[in-house]
Amino acid sequence: MTVYMRRRDFLKGFAGLFLSIFSSAFFFVEKARARKLNGNVQERKRMKLPKPKTHGDVSLETAIKQRRTIRSFTTEPLSLEQCSQLFWAAQGITEDRGFKRAAPSGGALYPMDIYAVVGENCVKGLKSGAYHYDPKGHAVSLVSEGDLRNKVASAALSQTWMAAAPLNILITSEYDRITGKYGNRGVRYAIIEAGHIGQNILLQSEAMGLGAGIVGAFDDDKVRRVVNIPPNHEPLLILPVGYKTEGL
Ligand SMILES: Cc1cc2nc3c(=O)[nH]c(=O)nc-3n(C[C@H](O)[C@H](O)[C@H](O)COP(=O)(O)O)c2cc1C
Repeated sequence: MTVYMRRRDFLKGFAGLFLSIFSSAFFFVEKARARKLNGNVQERKRMKLPKPKTHGDVSLETAIKQRRTIRSFTTEPLSLEQCSQLFWAAQGITEDRGFKRAAPSGGALYPMDIYAVVGENCVKGLKSGAYHYDPKGHAVSLVSEGDLRNKVASAALSQTWMAAAPLNILITSEYDRITGKYGNRGVRYAIIEAGHIGQNILLQSEAMGLGAGIVGAFDDDKVRRVVNIPPNHEPLLILPVGYKTEGL
C-alpha cells in the first residue's frame, strides 16, 4: 500500500512537473512569436527618414522675400528627402545633445506634434496615408491608410485647393504637456509655437523651390477623425506643400 502510494505520488508529481514545464515553454514561445509579429507590424509602419541637410542654396533673406501663401500645385511628386527636410524644419532635433528642436518652445516643454497627409503617388517611397513624425528618431509612423486629402480639404470648410497638394502637414498641440507648468497661459504659448513651426515649414518650402499654403479654417474634430489624431491633440494649422503651379 505504502509502496503503491509512493509510486502514485511520484507519478502525480512527475506529471505536474511535466505539465508546468510544457505550459511555461508554450507561454514563452507564444510570447516571443507575438513580440516578433508586433515588431514586424511596427517595422512595416515606421520609416526612418533620410538625414536632413543643414546647408542650402537659397539665403534666408531670399526665402523671406519670396514666400507667399501658395494655393495651386502641380502633380509632381515630392521626394522622401524633401519630406524629411520639411519635418526636420518643423520639429527636428537641432541640438547635438539630442533634445532641443528647430522651433522655440516655452520652457522647452515641446507640446507639439507633426502629422502629415500624403496623397497617392505623391511622395516617392511613402505610400498614401497619414503619418506621425517622431523628432527623436527622425522617423515617421503610419497612423491612417489611404489618400485622405479630399477628406482633409472637406474638413477645412471645403478648401478644395488643399487636396491638390501632394503633402499636407498638420501641426497639433497636446496642451497638458505645457499647462502643467504654466496653467492656462500654456495654451497661449503652444499656439504661438505653432506659428513658429508653421513659418519654419513655409521658409523651408521656399528654400527648396516648393510652395506652401497655410490653413487655420477647419473643423478640429473632423480633421482629428480623418487623420486619426488622438482626442487630446488639438490641430492648430495645416500646411499644404508641393511644387507651385507655373507663374505663381
Ligand atoms: C493663422 C492663419 C490662418 C490662415 N488660414 C487660411 C485659410 O484657412 N485659408 C487660406 O486660404 N489662407 C489662410 N491663411 C493665409 C492668409 O490668407 C495669408 O497669409 C495672407 O493672405 C497673406 O498672404 P501671404 O501669406 O501670401 O503673405 C492663413 C494665415 C494664417 C497666419
